[in-house]
Amino acid sequence: MVQNTAAELETRVKSLLSRMTLAEKAAQMMQIPFFMVTREEALLWARRGAGSFLHVLGDDARELQKAALETRLGIPVLFGIDAIHGHALNDRATIFPSQLSGACSWNPSLIEEMGRVTAREVATDGLHWTFSPVLCLGRDTRWGRIDETFGEDPFLAGELGAAIIRGYQGDRLDDDESIAACAKHYIGYGEAVGGRDACDTEMTFRKMREVFLPPFRRAVDAGVATVMTAYGSIDGTPFTASEKSLKSILKEELGFDGFVVTDWDNVNSLVSRQHVAADLDEASLLAANAGNDMIMTTEAFYESAIRLVESGRLSERVLDTAVANILRIKLRMGLFERPEKRGKPGCFACAEHLDASLRLARESVTLLKNDGVLPLSKPISRIAVIGPNADDIRAQYGDWTYFSQPVANPGRTPQRPYTTLLEGMRARAGEQGATICYHPGCGVLPDPADDLDGALEAARGCDVIILALGDVEEQTGEFKDRADLSLSGKQEELFLRLTGLNIPIVTVLISSKPLCVPRIVAGSSAFLAAFNGGMFGGQAIAEVIFGRINPSGKLPISFPRHSGQVPVYYNQLPGWHGDKYVDLPETPLFSFGEGLSYTRFTYSDLRVDADAYSIRFTLKNEGGRAGAETAQVYLRDLVSSVLSPVKRLVAFQKVWLEAGESREVVFALRREDFSLVLPDERRVVEPGEFMLSVGGSSKDEDLISVTIYLR
Ligand code: BGC
Repeated sequence: MVQNTAAELETRVKSLLSRMTLAEKAAQMMQIPFFMVTREEALLWARRGAGSFLHVLGDDARELQKAALETRLGIPVLFGIDAIHGHALNDRATIFPSQLSGACSWNPSLIEEMGRVTAREVATDGLHWTFSPVLCLGRDTRWGRIDETFGEDPFLAGELGAAIIRGYQGDRLDDDESIAACAKHYIGYGEAVGGRDACDTEMTFRKMREVFLPPFRRAVDAGVATVMTAYGSIDGTPFTASEKSLKSILKEELGFDGFVVTDWDNVNSLVSRQHVAADLDEASLLAANAGNDMIMTTEAFYESAIRLVESGRLSERVLDTAVANILRIKLRMGLFERPEKRGKPGCFACAEHLDASLRLARESVTLLKNDGVLPLSKPISRIAVIGPNADDIRAQYGDWTYFSQPVANPGRTPQRPYTTLLEGMRARAGEQGATICYHPGCGVLPDPADDLDGALEAARGCDVIILALGDVEEQTGEFKDRADLSLSGKQEELFLRLTGLNIPIVTVLISSKPLCVPRIVAGSSAFLAAFNGGMFGGQAIAEVIFGRINPSGKLPISFPRHSGQVPVYYNQLPGWHGDKYVDLPETPLFSFGEGLSYTRFTYSDLRVDADAYSIRFTLKNEGGRAGAETAQVYLRDLVSSVLSPVKRLVAFQKVWLEAGESREVVFALRREDFSLVLPDERRVVEPGEFMLSVGGSSKDEDLISVTIYLR
């Protein structure tokens, strides 16, 4: 198919617009939740010319599309779905590690592959659009949606976000295997007060530009087709009504040329939850004028928009602009020529796709403590696998699967293939002639069936205990923020009882976010974070435990020691009085960037060329086996007119080295990497001294540094 040139595209958009009635324009702006309306209502919306439906699959989608194509103008419907870590609301699809888990790989090419595989499967389901990636930052770990983020750092989130967008959208949106991506939630959603989902955001526009905008800028530069408006508010203005953030910054300044979709019922929320509009007409007026092009689920917007234009309160040109933005994407996707994507028949959970999920899971397992117990080596004949998350596929998957949001499998029956940690351990132990003794011990949530004695009995006499703790789907997602980030139920008690056996314990955290586990880390011989590792999360952890895989994950997010310490993100602004708490150190339990290997890497010969903004150093694998190290480059502006972070990530690269091998690593930075945002919101580079540091984590002791002067 020949893609329209920009001029042809505009001609087609104009021609369509000129033929659309006011009602058709208002309908084109609507996105209807299929499962919230009756079939008749859905068909009525399609006949009215609704622009989009969400969460509809297969024949239902085909029926709606047919109805839309039979309308006067035959504008095709765009079908959207939350394919957040794989097309996971469909139980036949490949399920990947969560964004947070996958981010531990620090491997953009694997994340791109995750996007590509997801796109292929979504397209094969006849759908066009995923509401992914989440580019919010996971800085307040009380927030329920930390699992959906790429972690706490703007640069890492931007790099991985751009990678997954490339994967989803491919080279061309009209490709049969490409789908539209959606950068969300614009903006600062994760920065809500108290970690409380959808509340006001503790953010100014300066801070927004400094910290939260960069990943979205990266997404726009990567050509993201759509952006979703966040639920929150900035300085008293809901983002839904913020012309400055949507129109001035996103569209005009960043040059975003796709369309903006609101989040769920944002327009109605201006009336019912945020109380800045007296009625729906007023809310619709605010939302339309602010630059929202498509309205998710607030059905009353349709009537309101028509009324507002007819009464002269809203200019029809506002609707024209919104509809043009939507039509442009539909045209670029080739939907007018071919309304249903074909994808790649037979690709659902095919060997190639499953392998992509496994490879990402392997690179995402993060070893955070090891006194030498790992990798397990002979003579080990009996291994205890204990804990509530050792054999629970729901906990391993986390949010946004057919368990939490069933679209195609209302029965929520686990579908193979997948491998839990217990299954992975059994497979590996079998190869080594070791026996597995399994007992869950307790539930993640308190449960009458909790049986700590049983777990102790199972573990007694074993050579090592693999203990899988964490959280469950009921503790993660929207409406599921946590005030207390310690382990729930009897998990900590289970651990303490097990320590009484004097058997080395390897604790594995299978969770949606960092939990506060200082005592567990202190009392364990080894500690691994796996987060929600997808279909093969359990296999990947077992492979690391047995040393089949040399771990290479690094934390994309810091671990607090205690809920009261939150937030503990590494790129804080400098302050006074050092260790603030009288009862705890200020440092996190584990810092951003941390992660061990079974080999050892050293950094030396750090040199910079200030004129070329380049930095080079030697990275050496000093240990006895091949492995991968993610080299991280941090920058500090030593004197700046506004507070600058104590350090911030500006570059990284995952490097594979054989035992004994060394390599010179070179990073070319850009002048804008040295910039900051002034109180008047301008981004500038202030000449002066900067410190550049490289190393294997964000911790001072893991970094070597050099100071440069920038003119
Ligand atoms: C979430 C979005 C999601 C949308 C559609 C909202 O509640 O905040 O992230 O894409 O629902 O399911």
